[in-house]
Amino acid sequence: MKVVEMENICISFGENRANQDVCFELEKGEVHALLGENGAGKSTLMNILYGLYKCDSGTIKINGQEVQMDSPRTAIKLGIGMVHQHFMLIPQFTVTKNIFLGMKESGFFFNEEKLNKEVQELNDRFGFNVDPTAYVWQLPVGVQQKVEILKTLIRKAKILILDEPTAVLTPNEVEDLFVSIRKLTKEGYSVILITHKMEEVLKYTDRVTVMREGKVVATKKVSETNLNDLAAMMVGRDVNLSRNLKPQTPGDVLLKLENVKVKDNKGQYIVNGVSLEVRAGEIVGIAGVDGNGQLELGEAIVGLRKIEEGKVEICGQDTTNATPHKILDAGLAHIPDDRHKKGLVLPFTVKENLILGLQRDKQYCKGITLDYRKVEQSAQKLAEEFDVRPRNIELQAGMLSGGNQQKVILAREVSRSPEVLIALLPTRGLDIGAIEFVRSKIVNERNNGKAVLLVSTDLDEILSLSDRIAVIYKGEILDVVSPDTPVEEIGLLMGGVKRKAEEVSQVG
Ligand SMILES: Nc1ncnc2c1ncn2[C@@H]1O[C@H](COP(=O)(O)OP(=O)(O)OP(=O)(O)O)[C@@H](O)[C@H]1O
Ligand SMILES: [Mg+2]
Repeated sequence: MKVVEMENICISFGENRANQDVCFELEKGEVHALLGENGAGKSTLMNILYGLYKCDSGTIKINGQEVQMDSPRTAIKLGIGMVHQHFMLIPQFTVTKNIFLGMKESGFFFNEEKLNKEVQELNDRFGFNVDPTAYVWQLPVGVQQKVEILKTLIRKAKILILDEPTAVLTPNEVEDLFVSIRKLTKEGYSVILITHKMEEVLKYTDRVTVMREGKVVATKKVSETNLNDLAAMMVGRDVNLSRNLKPQTPGDVLLKLENVKVKDNKGQYIVNGVSLEVRAGEIVGIAGVDGNGQLELGEAIVGLRKIEEGKVEICGQDTTNATPHKILDAGLAHIPDDRHKKGLVLPFTVKENLILGLQRDKQYCKGITLDYRKVEQSAQKLAEEFDVRPRNIELQAGMLSGGNQQKVILAREVSRSPEVLIALLPTRGLDIGAIEFVRSKIVNERNNGKAVLLVSTDLDEILSLSDRIAVIYKGEILDVVSPDTPVEEIGLLMGGVKRKAEEVSQVG
């Protein structure tokens, strides 16, 4: 039985035809993956199904009935729930309060105990294991994700749209999530899953629809496709993500960390004395399971988090707890892990975002004002070079797809021509074509003699980009190894297991 039938859906944003004659169906009880490059139109199509955008033409049927999807309220009434690419929870509220927010139950007669029980029932039924009384700020992202799903279930959704739910999850959390999703589909729920991870599509879903440039390329049974097939349909060309680093001898130390200690948001030490050097012309990758202090360390280096003890030097200058300005001037650029909160000003145009922080640069100044023609020219050039799509620098950054927002940040940071580049989860949420692109730009920086510190929870990424790999565990660098080290050994280190030198020599 078909629960969703979208036929010939079209929508344009100005010149940009985001969905062109898109047909999409969802069967009852299936997990249907929606795959496609950044900007292909996946979120747009789902926003139409959820009543957030109104399509220019096309029809939508739910359970065989044609409907006018004029608002999310209508969609919810029809049993559709959506978890967005970026969560919309209120950190200071409890799980239960978040789940019932906006419903009549959370009004004047808010009976927390009774509602906690309701949440607990769903928890048990689908194996979510979320504490209803916990505050959202206390929860890891994997659990927050489940809160978002519970929120749709409480509203009686039978059709779930999950927009890149796994982009920020660790492998275990992903596994967990899909166990729950399977429980849902067994009970007759149907799931649309947007993702960039093809392995995930192959492992956990039933059917897949691939989109490219606003159109559907194909819909296939997962059993009748494979990795190469999917990649080819997605980007329409071969993609090479394998290691491509020419050997080169590193130069001077450009980034030096000495016994750095940093606290997390709860005031606990999360980085416990990290010492590390990164030289000109090398990429040092920090490998580790999410939550072992790698992001906090990165934030401390770039001036977004206080350094409690220890010292950071950039190009020989002490930048410990210096202002972000001073750190930039010392020669540092950085690709942040959360492009919405830290990387972009979403209501600003692409052009403005591209020169953010560069406005003090003399080449963009005319007297005391900005030289707008110069800004325009170099923004246009950057947009071309970094393939920002659509190529319209007057567009608000918030209107770009996730992957294209990331390209804007990368363009801006690299164009500062820094000596030291800190890249924090630089390819999160990107399609494979864009991942290839971003990685090649990072390697370029290294080849041009810059020092790069890469933090990624994706071990494949670390292996394919690093000259040396520092493994972080519970806020300490357990070891620094070469990228030829067997993966199992690195995996053990990431889990906190370090083989002693004697043991290794005994083994031979
Ligand atoms: N509200 C909007 N106003 C203008 N343009 C928009 C708007 N929403 C989306 N677009 C444009 O529509 C196109 C499709 O975007 P969409 O967000 O659907 O891509 P996506 O496939 O979800 O990409 P990603 O994988 O990066 O999330 C993009 O070119 C985007 O810039
Ligand atoms: Mg999207």
